[in-house]
Amino acid sequence: MSGRGLILGIESSCDETAAAVVERGARTLSSAVASQIATHARYGGVVPELASREHLRAIVPVVRAALAEAGIGLGDLDAIAVTAGPGLAGALLVGITYAKALAFAQGLPLIAINHLEGHIHAVLLNERETEPQDPSGAKAPANFATLSARLKSCPDTNQRISAEEAALALVVSGGHTHLFLARPAQGAWSYKLVGRTLDDAAGEAYDKVAKLLGFGYPGGPWIDAMARFGNPLAVPFAFSQIKHKVHLGSKPPRIKAAKTAPIAELDTRFLFSFSGIKTAVLRYVELHDLRGEAQARAARLFAPHSEARPPQTKEEALALCPQQILDLVASFQCAVVGDLMKKTFAAAESLGARRILVTGGVAANRELRARFSAEATRRGVRIAFPTLALSTDNAAMIAAAAWPRFVAGEFAEDSLSGNPSLALGR
Ligand code: KG4
Ligand code: ZN
Repeated sequence: MSGRGLILGIESSCDETAAAVVERGARTLSSAVASQIATHARYGGVVPELASREHLRAIVPVVRAALAEAGIGLGDLDAIAVTAGPGLAGALLVGITYAKALAFAQGLPLIAINHLEGHIHAVLLNERETEPQDPSGAKAPANFATLSARLKSCPDTNQRISAEEAALALVVSGGHTHLFLARPAQGAWSYKLVGRTLDDAAGEAYDKVAKLLGFGYPGGPWIDAMARFGNPLAVPFAFSQIKHKVHLGSKPPRIKAAKTAPIAELDTRFLFSFSGIKTAVLRYVELHDLRGEAQARAARLFAPHSEARPPQTKEEALALCPQQILDLVASFQCAVVGDLMKKTFAAAESLGARRILVTGGVAANRELRARFSAEATRRGVRIAFPTLALSTDNAAMIAAAAWPRFVAGEFAEDSLSGNPSLALGR
C-alpha cells in the first residue's frame, strides 16, 4: 500500500475488458481497455459466451498494462474496485473472480461498484481532473483501516466531495437509458432513479437500426458519422406519449438492467421507449424496398479482412449508401436525440436541478453533445459530458466511483457475486 489513495478499477460487464489506476478518485494514472468489437462485429451484437471467453483471455494482460502504464506495482495499491453489475453474468464473473483473488492475495479491500454509478463518475472524474489537486500532500499510513479513517478526516477530501453539487444524470448507453438525481453525501454518493427506458436502450436502438441498414457494429459511431450528411427532417419520426398502464400490463417490459426499479412510482414524463422507432425504421425500409441494398452493404462490410470504418466525408458516405439512407439515419438520430433532450431537460426543470451530466456510450454522439449543450446554454443550466474515451466502457470510471466508498469504508463482502440486473438508486 502506498497510502496515496491508489485504486485499481476492473470492468468486465459487457464487451470491454478494462483496468485503470486512479489516484484519490481525481487523477487517472492509467486506463487500459481491450475491446472485443472485432469478435462480436460479424454477429452484429454481443455474444455472451464469446464475451466471457475474451474477458478470460484479456484480464491478466489488461491489468498488467494498467499497472505498467501507471508506473506502479501491485504492492502500491490501496484498494481494488470491480463492477458488480448490471451486465452479462459470465462477463461480470470473470472480473469479480479476478478482483477478489487479487484483493485476497494482496490483503487489500475490495469495493463493489454499480456500472451505472461508474458512468456517472466518468464525468465527475473529468471535472476533478481539471480542479486543483489536494494541496496537503499528506502521506497516509500503510494500513488500510487507518488509511480510510485518515482520509475520512482529511478536510480537503470531504470538502471537495460535498462541494460537488447535486446533478441530474442521464446514463445513455447500449444497455441503459436511465435518469438519476445524483447527490453528493459524506462518503458515497446517493442516487434517486427518476426515469428510464421501458424497453430498448437508446444505444441498442442505434445498434439495431445500423444492423438493419447493413452498417458496422457498434452502430452508434456509424449512424453518428452518416447522419451529418442527411436531412434530419426527411422522415417524420414521432415519439408518442408513453401510456403508463399499457406497459404495466401482464407482459413485463424487456428490461435487462435494474429490473427491480419501481416503474409505477416514476413520473411517466421521464420514461423512454426506443423499440417503436426501431420498428418504424424497419417499416420504412420494407416500404421503400431497401432491404436488398442493405444486405449487399452488410456482405461488403463484413467480408473477411474488411477494415470498414465509418465514413468521414460526404463522398465516402455516398459511396456506401444512397442519399435516401443518409436522410433516414439523420431523421432517426434527430428524433432519438430530441426525445432524450426533451425528457432530460423536463426532469431537470421539475427537480430544480441546475446541473446535468450526460454519460455512457451514446454520450459520445456529436449531435447529442451539440444539441444538449445549446439547450443548456439557452436555459442557463450547467452541462458536462465525459471525454470521448470515458464515454464508452472503461475502468477509470469504476476506480473513480470507488474513491468515496473507500473513504467511507464501504467494502465488499467475501461473498460478492455479480448481479446482472443490479439496480442503482431507489
Ligand atoms: O457505455 P457503452 O460502451 O456500453 C454499455 O454500457 O452499454 O455504450 C455502448 C453503446 C453502443 O450501443 C454504441 O452503439 C453506442 O454506445 N455509441 C454511440 C456512439 N458511440 C458509441 N451511439 C451514438 N453515437 C456515438 N458516437
Ligand atoms: Zn456502460
